[in-house]
Amino acid sequence: MKKKILSAFVATVMTMTVLCGCGSAAAPAADNQGAGEAAKETLIVGTNAAFPPFEFVGDDGKPDGFDMALIKAIGDEIGYDVQIQDMEFDSLVSSIGNKIDVAIAGMTVTEERKNMVDFSDPYYEAVQAVVVPKGAAIATADDLKNLKIGVQLGTTGEFIADEIEGAEVSAYNKAVDAVNDLNNGRVDCVIIDKNPAEVFGAQFSDKVDVVAGENFDFEPENYAIALPKGDTELAGKINAALKKFKEDGTYDSLVKQYIEE
Ligand code: ARG
Repeated sequence: MKKKILSAFVATVMTMTVLCGCGSAAAPAADNQGAGEAAKETLIVGTNAAFPPFEFVGDDGKPDGFDMALIKAIGDEIGYDVQIQDMEFDSLVSSIGNKIDVAIAGMTVTEERKNMVDFSDPYYEAVQAVVVPKGAAIATADDLKNLKIGVQLGTTGEFIADEIEGAEVSAYNKAVDAVNDLNNGRVDCVIIDKNPAEVFGAQFSDKVDVVAGENFDFEPENYAIALPKGDTELAGKINAALKKFKEDGTYDSLVKQYIEE
């Protein structure tokens, strides 16, 4: 009897060991760099630091913002040194597993992206908004038809714009370039996520208005961290850290600091 329980226990432990492949399954960064045994593994995190308040280049020339603070806190929690790599948004998904380990970039979970990467649990709910010239009569979905629409390349804003009847879509590498072309009159409106829309709206408050996405029936979107496909160990650690931060107030204080300020 006792023996039986013991061997069942041993078998369970062995299975667990095999399943978790214990040790450094989630140590892709060190592999990438060909680095030796460092005290802490490095997690190379891709972003596109032109999407305030989630990521932007700070006064010191380094990427800052809600996502940057969140991923650094996660790194601390799960024992990684976080190294940020600023790149074009459109290259992030295809760089996971080669140039970068994970990506955090206000990235919306989409079915298409899920074919290439896994996502952490969602950490923020967003929706697209429409930036329009001050006083413009753009208020409903019908008003968007046949317009010149600026978007950031490879974003959900672009995917939405591409579906609008008669729209002539211009895609920019940086969202702010789309807004600059709105101010120059080269496009009629810009479709971009709500929070950066508000930041640009405040920055150019004499020139633009921001119309909420609900007026156009845009669907809510969820931001999550993009992860290498099948790396359940890393996903588990990151999700556990996210959960802890939502419970212990860390998440709320980052929202206050970066998004609600
Ligand atoms: N949420 C949108 C998307 O996932 C836009 C994200 C753009 N992010 C950025 N850092 N530029 O497509």
